[in-house]
Amino acid sequence: MRRCTSFAFRRHFNVQHQFFPFERLFETAIITISDSHVFFVKYGHLSVKNTDSPPLEVESGASAEDKVFEHEKQLRERMNRLHLKQRRGIESEGEQPIFGHGLTFFHLENWFSLHKLLKMFLRITHLQGYAKRNCYDFQLRHNRVVLPQLPQAFHGFTILHLSDLHIDLSADFSHALTEYVQDLQYDICVMTGDYRYTTRGPIDGAIAGMERLRLFLKDPVYAVLGNHDSVEMVPILEQLGIHLLLNEAVSLHRGTSELYLAGVDDPHYFRADNLEKTSTTIPEEAFAILLSHSPEIYKQSCYAGFDLMLSGHTHGGQVCLPGGWPLTVNASCPRYFCKGAWRYDKMQGYTSAGTGSSIVKARFNCPPEVTLHQLCRN
Ligand SMILES: [Fe+2]
Repeated sequence: MRRCTSFAFRRHFNVQHQFFPFERLFETAIITISDSHVFFVKYGHLSVKNTDSPPLEVESGASAEDKVFEHEKQLRERMNRLHLKQRRGIESEGEQPIFGHGLTFFHLENWFSLHKLLKMFLRITHLQGYAKRNCYDFQLRHNRVVLPQLPQAFHGFTILHLSDLHIDLSADFSHALTEYVQDLQYDICVMTGDYRYTTRGPIDGAIAGMERLRLFLKDPVYAVLGNHDSVEMVPILEQLGIHLLLNEAVSLHRGTSELYLAGVDDPHYFRADNLEKTSTTIPEEAFAILLSHSPEIYKQSCYAGFDLMLSGHTHGGQVCLPGGWPLTVNASCPRYFCKGAWRYDKMQGYTSAGTGSSIVKARFNCPPEVTLHQLCRN
């Protein structure tokens, strides 16, 4: 990799890449410096400019560059080359659009002026405090899943499922969550994406929150990326002991029995999921669980042979009518698959209503949840 001049921006950046040969994506770097971490992606021969804030605190010197190259090296070793290129390519387009791209045409999470209007509405109606308190009112959901094909040794196996943490929601949110989960009993923890509050901008707030949460989670912890997450988070989250499943699978053992835990990258916005690659190492008759940020790929997952699918993304609507009826679920699939337990053909599934909240700090008739799935043979 050739070295080039380093520019560091604290905030969002935009890349003008009309003259940029795609295959040179990895030849050059640059990127973002946060208070505690350095992330770079280098774009040589590119005009790189900051769109909404002046360049800040350009960091120079060997140690900063070493961190850059170490980060780049880890990402390249960790991820499939094409997967990384595609993910970074879409992320480098800058602000995510309100319309188009992804599995749904309309992306509520990217309509920032609407977010401001909603906040104003909550303030005017004096509902802001109540709506925000609801975001901290975690509910512990127990989901007993009967799976006759489950290996006997895994009868009673318990999975802690956290989803859509958006953990940089506020400083005290991660503290409240860590207190809530620290005494729970489970065999593994899984997280189904969306660690950052926004879909763009710095990742250091999300990383700081995840760092704190990880201290209170028992090993092992597996996770997938969501549509709010940057691929630059991967090496840092893994250094925290969060094993990301990037279109891949691992086997879990109990005695001589095993089951497979697989995970795909975000299928909703980045459409970076690849079930074929994910299933490569899973024997045809093996019991397999799939983590996917969104349940939108339920049909493909079912016919790929997965026994259980765990998802999130929809927040269960987050703002619902009395009785829990969501106004919108931001997913291209029937509402039956957008909250709680469901079944499609031979595959069972569960879509979390989300542990955190996004767009606005508000929940109505749809409390945030922490889920314990207990797998049973009968
Ligand atoms: Fe999401």
